[in-house]
Amino acid sequence: MSGLRQSLPGATITGWAAALPDTVVTNADFEARLDTSDAWIVERTGIRERRFGGTTSTLAIEACRGALKRAGVEAGDVDLLILATTTPDKRVPATSSIVHAELGCRGAAFDLNAACAGFVYALVTAVSMFQAGFRRALVVGSDTLSRITDQDDRGTAVLFGDGAGAVVVEATPDHELILSHDLGLDGSLLPILYCNHAGYIQMEGREVYRRAVRATVESAARVLSGTGTSGAEVKLFVPHQANRRIIDAVVDRLGIVPERSVIVVDRTGNTSASSVPIALTEAVEAGRVEDGDLILMSGFGAGMTWASALLRWGT
Ligand code: UT7
Repeated sequence: MSGLRQSLPGATITGWAAALPDTVVTNADFEARLDTSDAWIVERTGIRERRFGGTTSTLAIEACRGALKRAGVEAGDVDLLILATTTPDKRVPATSSIVHAELGCRGAAFDLNAACAGFVYALVTAVSMFQAGFRRALVVGSDTLSRITDQDDRGTAVLFGDGAGAVVVEATPDHELILSHDLGLDGSLLPILYCNHAGYIQMEGREVYRRAVRATVESAARVLSGTGTSGAEVKLFVPHQANRRIIDAVVDRLGIVPERSVIVVDRTGNTSASSVPIALTEAVEAGRVEDGDLILMSGFGAGMTWASALLRWGT
């Protein structure tokens, strides 16, 4: 159900950016029309506000433009674009086609759906494809979950938000970026979190919570032990942002220094495949990571999927 692989080609992340829609939806906005309260939402999830708006492609394009600018790379020099999403703009073509055309990228582009683990899946896939000759990748997580959430269901409406995050990853023989990774899926858990065509997200929250903590701890522990790294050596933990309590439980069990985890869920809600690159961008921009630091990323989501990667930062 899970596979730990090592020895990926050398790579470095040279650009990063996030894109959030302008419309802020606060807990008070939900309080005004649903049987819920700011106190419940904050206590059970850590979420205070989230952003609604845009489309998966427009948010992805904005994030990609920011990442390209930060990297000093022209879109025409990108030869691989992987867009992780569960909320594509159209059934066909892939949303990555829209982004590719709008930006003027070259080469290959495809969407990847691994739910909230999508960005880490996409990053590992991109670096693996350097083995096949690709040199410069845009890896973007973009989701507009507000479009597939029943805004009258208090059990899900308060949890999700829209956003995108992107990185530019370049092949180089001089830096080992991904030290170890662990991507997996347990399809028997499909019924606890899914969304049918033209339907809304259906979720058994308590069961997803339980499984999410377990899957994240086990996957991250495999990645750490695969390189002989302890949780205490992790300089930055960039987890999927679904629930503050899930992050705290994972940090506690892995022995990660709590101040080293990145938290954006309070301001974004759960943005699915976007949450890890949004959190990474915020941390890097805040100067929380230096060359040589170990970064642990982890995601989990519908499927249920999970993905962890231990990275060594180096620009
Ligand atoms: O990205 C991956 C996908 N999702 C997740 O990772 C979510 C994982 N699950 C969770 O984060 C949590 O399970 C939730 C935040 C969804 C729920 O928190 P919980 O502490 O597990 O609550 P619960 O589902 O056990 O519900 C407790 C009570 C219930 O009422 P009763 O049956 O005890 O009377 C719910 O109906 O809270 C009620 N409830 C609410 N009350 C006020 C559920 N949603 C709300 C709400 N406001 N928005």
